Amino acid sequence: MATWLAEVFGGPATYSAERGGYPTMLNHHLGKAITEPQRRRWVNLMMDAADEVDLPADPEFRAAFAGYVEWGTRLALSNSQPGANSAREAPVPRWGWGVAPPYQG
Ligand code: HEM
Repeated sequence: MATWLAEVFGGPATYSAERGGYPTMLNHHLGKAITEPQRRRWVNLMMDAADEVDLPADPEFRAAFAGYVEWGTRLALSNSQPGANSAREAPVPRWGWGVAPPYQG
C-alpha cells in the first residue's frame, strides 16, 4: 500500500517495478464484494494513518490525498462486486496538487 501510494503521488515507480502494477492491485480486490460501510471505514482509517505518520499538513496536499482516497475507494468497491466488468490493465494513476496558489500558513 505504501509503495502504491508513493507511486501515485509522484514518488518512485516501485509498485510497478516490483509487484506488477495496476493488474496486481486490481486482483487483490476482485470478487471481494466490498460494501459501502467497509469502504467508508477504509477511508477513515487511511485519514487516521495519514495523521499518525505526519504526512504534510498543507491543505493542497491533503485535499489531493482525500480526493484520491475517495476516488480510489469508490472504484475499489465497484471493481470488487461479483461479475464486475473491470478494466484489467490501466496505468497506475498519478495525482498531483498545487492547482490553487500555495497556502501561506
Ligand atoms: C484508494 C483505494 C484503494 C487502493 C489504492 C488499494 C490498494 C491496494 C493495494 C496496493 C493492495 C496490496 C496489493 C499487493 O499486495 O500488492 C491492496 C490489498 C487489499 N485491499 Fe485495497 N485498495 C483500496 C481500497 C480498498 C478498500 C476500500 C478495501 C476494503 C474495504 C480494500 C481491501 C483490500 C484487501 C482485503 C486487500 C488484501 C487482499 C489480499 O491480500 O488478497 N482495498 N489494496
